[in-house]
Amino acid sequence: MSEGKRLAAEKAIEYVEDGMIVGVGTGSTVAYFIDALARIKHRIDGAVSSSDQSTERLRSHGIDVLDLNATGPLALYVDGADECDPGKHLIKGGGAALTREKIIAEASRQFICIIDPAKQVPVLGTFPLPVEVIPMARSLVARTILETTGGQPVWREGVKTDNGNWVLDIHGLSITDPVALEAKLNQIPGVVSVGLFARRKADVVIVGTPTPTVL
Ligand code: 5RP
Repeated sequence: MSEGKRLAAEKAIEYVEDGMIVGVGTGSTVAYFIDALARIKHRIDGAVSSSDQSTERLRSHGIDVLDLNATGPLALYVDGADECDPGKHLIKGGGAALTREKIIAEASRQFICIIDPAKQVPVLGTFPLPVEVIPMARSLVARTILETTGGQPVWREGVKTDNGNWVLDIHGLSITDPVALEAKLNQIPGVVSVGLFARRKADVVIVGTPTPTVL
């Protein structure tokens, strides 16, 4: 339970307009958003979900979950983050949903990130950076990360993503150029996606302070 997460999620509801199909992220902050969205479900045309977990919660509230291929571009995507820097670059993927989150963020005109104040950092990297990998490429990707970034990749053992892949978490990074690191990691064969949301960063960040701060 986090009051900061709830406050940020409640504020994000103000961005939902009548008739919208809303892109929905994953995690405990988003769970508050989904619960709030349920109150106005008669005003929206449905949601596109970034994970099985969010799909289940949306459906439990009677909100239609639609296929992104059928909806086309979305007006709004709301999601949490593990870290957010002053440039609105994010680390995401703590919940292993990074790939679908990245797809929906890319497909959306406005990406609103909802966080509690503890997620704000001057430089990204204290939170280990998640990377989704094709299982057979796990060691190759880990070795390349070790050699080229100086970070220490750790296999998140026992975790399989909704896409059937594995996750490496890169520890010990200090990410001063998030766009460059995202591009570099994306080049490694076997990487499905990188939990750095830098090239497509958040447009708006809502921080769940007692009177929520909109950045
Ligand atoms: C899931 C994510 C989440 O947005 C991130 O992990 C934050 O989660 P929470 O809201 O539970 O703190 O990227 O892949």
